[in-house]
Amino acid sequence: MKAFTFATSQSIICESGAAARLAEICQEQGFQSVMIITDPGIKQLGLHQGALDSFDKKNMAVQVFSDVQADPPEAVVQTAIDIAKRSDVDAIIGFGGGSSMDVAKIVALLAHPNSQQTLSDIYGLSNAKGKRLPLIQVPTTAGTGSEVTQVAIVTTGETTKMGAVTPLFLPDFAILDSDLTMGLPPHVTAATGVDAMVHAIEAYTSRHKKNPMSDLMAKEGLRLMAGSIQTATHNGSDKKAREEMLLGAMFAGQAFANSPVAAVHALAYPLGGHFHIPHGLSNSLVLPHVMRFNLNEAASLYAELAPIIFPKQNFAGSDLAIATKLVENIEVLIKDLGLPTRLRDMDIEDSFLPTLAQDAMLQTRLLVNNPRDVDYDDALFIYKAAY
Ligand SMILES: NC(=O)c1ccc[n+]([C@@H]2O[C@H](COP(=O)([O-])OP(=O)(O)OC[C@H]3O[C@@H](n4cnc5c(N)ncnc54)[C@H](O)[C@@H]3O)[C@@H](O)[C@H]2O)c1
Ligand SMILES: [Fe+2]
Repeated sequence: MKAFTFATSQSIICESGAAARLAEICQEQGFQSVMIITDPGIKQLGLHQGALDSFDKKNMAVQVFSDVQADPPEAVVQTAIDIAKRSDVDAIIGFGGGSSMDVAKIVALLAHPNSQQTLSDIYGLSNAKGKRLPLIQVPTTAGTGSEVTQVAIVTTGETTKMGAVTPLFLPDFAILDSDLTMGLPPHVTAATGVDAMVHAIEAYTSRHKKNPMSDLMAKEGLRLMAGSIQTATHNGSDKKAREEMLLGAMFAGQAFANSPVAAVHALAYPLGGHFHIPHGLSNSLVLPHVMRFNLNEAASLYAELAPIIFPKQNFAGSDLAIATKLVENIEVLIKDLGLPTRLRDMDIEDSFLPTLAQDAMLQTRLLVNNPRDVDYDDALFIYKAAY
């Protein structure tokens, strides 16, 4: 067997209502001054109120940084670090979607009293050094899986993002409380859910680090999410569907944290960068077209996933025939979820496609994982197909 390593968060608490026990969990760990990092949308909805009440009841110090923006810019991350340092917090809680959790990771690292590093020092692979503050992650979207990944993504310029990758970003606790996701609007449920499904699909076909554990997580994640994404999107108050999406997204996160994503994400990032299309939707727009491009190289792996994603479909014939049918079914699923399906619907001029293709080529870290090599002409071809 090929050697592999698998790393994940230290503890995972999967419990409906657990956010209202956050103070208890912090007290058990001996934390005395905690900072919750979240965004204005979550603050306005009061999703973190149960958590705040729990600190109040125990008379424990807690403060909230709620200025995280989607696709967090460096300036926001730096502000959060500065506030955490000034107030001597001794633990960080990321509370929200991938954006809040990614900011929390970096704050936990760079607000550690012994940290000598700056934000720009830590971009790239394993450049973060030293220790971090204790970190608890509480996802409120069933999407990025950031609660179990070693990555934090920051917007560094007008259109560019940088990732920092380090095992230090795996939290002490990942808390899956499906109550928090019950009010997630349909379009966010659909887009973040497709993002998570892409994590599992790309992990399963990843060229170098695919391994038996990432396969297990990818398959179970896909089984859960494919079975629930329609219900969670169209009937958001269905508790079982919400639970399955949250757990499935975490499994998918564990899969791609150990067997990284590829061309779907590489081609999605420029869409987010130039047009501020949410991460999940960017992935969804290019997913079927990248899969079709990969068909010859990935047919047998796609064919293994097909009956897991669409158990009611009658898949028959060669691997290529099954994989082709899988892609068609995914296109129907995306439509049924009410997501836009064409780049032309996103206010993108077709004259811009070459720029997108050039930018996608910069994502070498991701492209090397794709089952088929992707060059500039291929990327342009895929964007044209998605247009
Ligand atoms: N670290 C990783 O492993 C990883 C992986 C993929 C993507 N990302 C990053 O994560 C970010 C995207 O994260 P995301 O898709 O989870 O979205 P997000 O965190 O950007 O949030 C999107 C919106 O959803 C709202 N929202 C969140 N939870 C809600 C709830 N329960 N009810 C109502 N509204 C809610 C937020 O207020 C926000 O307006 C991007 O920056 C992306 O680059 C990180
Ligand atoms: Fe993603």
